[in-house]
Amino acid sequence: MTSTDANAGHPAVLITGAAKRVGAAIAHQLHAAGADILIHYRQSAAEADRLAASLNALRPGSAATLASDLLATATLPDLVQRAVSTFGRLDALINNASSFYPTPFGRITEAQWDDLFGTNLKAPLFLAQAAAPHLKATRGLILNLVDIHSQRPLPDHAVYCAAKAGLSMLTRALARELGPDIRVNGIAPGPVLWPEGGMDQSLQDKIISRTALRRAGSPEDIAKAALFFFKDAPYVTGQILAVDGGRSIGW
Ligand SMILES: NC(=O)c1ccc[n+]([C@@H]2O[C@H](COP(=O)([O-])OP(=O)(O)OC[C@H]3O[C@@H](n4cnc5c(N)ncnc54)[C@H](OP(=O)(O)O)[C@@H]3O)[C@@H](O)[C@H]2O)c1
Repeated sequence: MTSTDANAGHPAVLITGAAKRVGAAIAHQLHAAGADILIHYRQSAAEADRLAASLNALRPGSAATLASDLLATATLPDLVQRAVSTFGRLDALINNASSFYPTPFGRITEAQWDDLFGTNLKAPLFLAQAAAPHLKATRGLILNLVDIHSQRPLPDHAVYCAAKAGLSMLTRALARELGPDIRVNGIAPGPVLWPEGGMDQSLQDKIISRTALRRAGSPEDIAKAALFFFKDAPYVTGQILAVDGGRSIGW
């Protein structure tokens, strides 16, 4: 395929963990801006199918689903290949999938380490490596969903925070490795959606009281930042934007 061919048609975006929550909001936002969307999921098949159906109802043939467990590192090149085959190109890889739970020190297990580092750091690296040749052809984007807690630790979450700190460095390191053809950026959300497993109300109140804008954000706030990096930031690479209502200045 020539670069002219690669740049014809709609841009194609692979979003990991996109069946619901923040990933689904990014899918809606980029789709509305004209992108074709590859919705990756692991367990949320029904939500992924519903999201694809709603996007395809708006523009037929504009969304597809891809299932895989990102902890199966050897299968990640195949996931990228399936993504590229679907729309014949890849313009952005959005590393959104993540596992998140407390790991109180003294009771941390190797399985927790492998899971938290696997989803939050290892998979983004090996997906980026597999996607890079395709993103080079389209002068594309890698966007990593980091966390403000990559800089300032969240109590009882040492392993998650360390993994996101690694992802933060990976974002900057890959920006150097992959220029001039590919931009690599990150978004560090503050409180936008409480964990699916729930969070203690008093902890939620404490977090909001230390957030300058005194409220939680929304998945759409993150999606708008993703659209900025995707569409309006051709001279921005190696940057991580906190979208956190001022949480990171209100410790
Ligand atoms: N929510 C917030 O307020 C917040 C704050 C700071 C940072 N962030 C970051 O923003 C991103 C999105 O947040 P979120 O809360 O929407 O994420 P989430 O709901 O916790 O996770 C997104 C998806 O990741 C997928 N996933 C987890 N383990 C996987 C695995 N081994 N293989 C494949 N997929 C896997 C799951 O897909 P399935 O359901 O299909 O299994 C899940 O639906 C994450 O990177 C998160 O760390 C979020």
